[in-house]
Parts: sequence; structure tokens; C-alpha cells
Amino acid sequence: MNIILKFIALFTAFMIRPAGMVLTHFKCRNGMYPRSAIERFMVPDDKINWSVEYKEYKPPNHTANSIHGKPWADPKIGDPNFKPKWNALDKNVNRESYTGQYLIQDRYPLNPVGRTGICGRGVLGRWGPNHAADPVVTRWKRLLSGELELDKNHKPILQFVAIKRGDTGEWALPGGMVDPGEKVTTTAVREFQEEAINSLVMSEDDKKEWEEKFKSFFSNGDEVFQGYVDDPRNTDNAWMETSAYNFHDDKGDVVGALKLNAGDDAVGVQWVDAAHDIKLYASHEDIVKEVLKRRLLAIT
Ligand SMILES: *[C@@H]1O[C@H](CO)[C@@H](O)[C@H](O)[C@H]1NC(C)=O
Ligand SMILES: *[C@@H]1O[C@H](CO)[C@@H](O)[C@H](O)[C@H]1NC(C)=O
Repeated sequence: MNIILKFIALFTAFMIRPAGMVLTHFKCRNGMYPRSAIERFMVPDDKINWSVEYKEYKPPNHTANSIHGKPWADPKIGDPNFKPKWNALDKNVNRESYTGQYLIQDRYPLNPVGRTGICGRGVLGRWGPNHAADPVVTRWKRLLSGELELDKNHKPILQFVAIKRGDTGEWALPGGMVDPGEKVTTTAVREFQEEAINSLVMSEDDKKEWEEKFKSFFSNGDEVFQGYVDDPRNTDNAWMETSAYNFHDDKGDVVGALKLNAGDDAVGVQWVDAAHDIKLYASHEDIVKEVLKRRLLAIT
């Protein structure tokens, strides 16, 4: 009986873990740290977990000069005016992790997944979790006639709005950091507007009409993922976490009707086919695959 219950518990634990909920990391381990000449200390797979001893571990300590004094960045640890409340909502800065309680070692929060080969906070503003929101705006690909285009398995093709990142050139979701006190869904919509819509050339009247349509469209998002992100910027003491929401335009007549151009932060913004072999920035790949899975299930 016990064994059967254990098996069921294990099975359901596996089933309900959202896609992308990585308990290990690859993109923030080994190799060069982004926008720096600093190489991460080598961390083999079996030495990621903090509870595994790694005596030789001496990661370089790096906090980018560019973040000091920025309004979105924390002060240095040890600064007498900086009294962070870890694992809590600290005034309006969310220092809670979706992964549960993270550890604090010698005043520094520890990455909940494990070693990354670099300490300090790199280019990230916050010590501990840095919260982002990623909107996944989707539509079905259509022929000029308006009919759904089908793939070779006679399945409709899902498309999502992607931006090309200026720094890495990879396709990514048009997400961004959650401002202090901001609701995560608000961030998702704001970032989508800033990164994907701002560039659109249209009259003031047209803009107003679209804004009205967007308001109701963006009020219905499905949460598809919440958790740690295997982001190349992560360090031992600072890491990315995200909430991803899917906003789906089934008929293709609201956001789906938009022809998209480049926005401020991006060198390109496009409708991209969501395929099983898609390659995207950080954990965005798992998020898009999860959306694809759910959307295809919803029609069959
Ligand atoms: C990293 O460097 C900063 C500033 O140079 C220092 O205050 C901090 O204690 C160092 N952290 C570690 C873990 O050595
Ligand atoms: C690290 O190892 C401990 C002890 O075995 C385990 O409880 C924990 O879940 C592991 N952490 C991760 C992120 O896998």
C-alpha cells in the first residue's frame, strides 16, 4: 500500500511540475559571463548542488560597474542603509523565490539550484531572485484566404511574438523585469506594448481603437509557468525567476492581425512558428513548448 502511495505521489509530483521548472542549470554554468571578460569557475554536473562538497571551488567575484547606483539595483551587501528581508516581500520588492526558501550564507543569498561558477551579482540588479514576466502572445498561422494553414501532420501551426535580442541575437519572448509593487500580469502587458507595439506606425484614432481592443484581450492570460530561469546572467547570489502568461488570439483579429516591426530594445520583432525543435533564449524555449502543448490539446 505504502509503496503504491509513494509511487502515486512521485508520479503526480512529476506531472504537475511545469515545463521549464529546471532543477539543474546549463546556460549559467561554465564558459564566459555575459558582457564581461570573466570566465566562470568550472562546475561539473555532480558538483552543482550546494550540499555536495567542492573544496576547490573558488568562483570569481563579479558585480558589473554599470549597475551601481541604478534605481532598479540593490545597494552593496554590508551597506549600513541596506537591510534586506530575504525570502519575503521586502516593502514592495519581492524577494521571495518560486522555488521555496533559499539559503543565506555569510549575508549572501544562495542560488536555489546551486553553483554557477561566479559569485557577486554580475549584471543583475537584485541580490537573490530577480523577478521578470514573459508574455507569450499567440495566434494560429493563416493563409491569405484566412483559412488555417496546416503542417504536414494536418495540425494547425501556432505562432508567437518573438523579439531578437540585441545582445545575443537569439529570439526571445518580449518580457521584462517586474517593477517594485507591480502586478506580474501588468508587467507582461507593459513589456509587450513597449517592445512589440510601440514601433507601429498608426494614427492617434487607430491607436485608441487598438488600445481598447488590447485591454480586453490582455485581461485574459493563462499562467503557463512560474519559476527559476536558467539564464546566462545568473550567479551564485543573484538569479532570474519568471511568470509566463499566454495571451491567445484564437480568431486572429486582435493582436493576431498586427504586422510587427522592431521596437526600442529589440532589433527585430516577428510572428515566429512555435515548433518542437525551436531554439530560444534562456528558458523561453520550455515556456513556448508548454504553450504549444496546451494550445494543441485545447483544440483536440
Ligand atoms: C566581492 O567583492 C566585493 C567588492 O569588492 C566585496 O565587498 C565582497 O565581500 C566580495 N564577495 C565575496 C563573496 O568575496
Ligand atoms: C540538493 O541536494 C539535497 C540533498 O540531497 C536535496 O534535498 C536538494 O533537493 C538538492 N537540490 C537540488 C536543487 O536539486
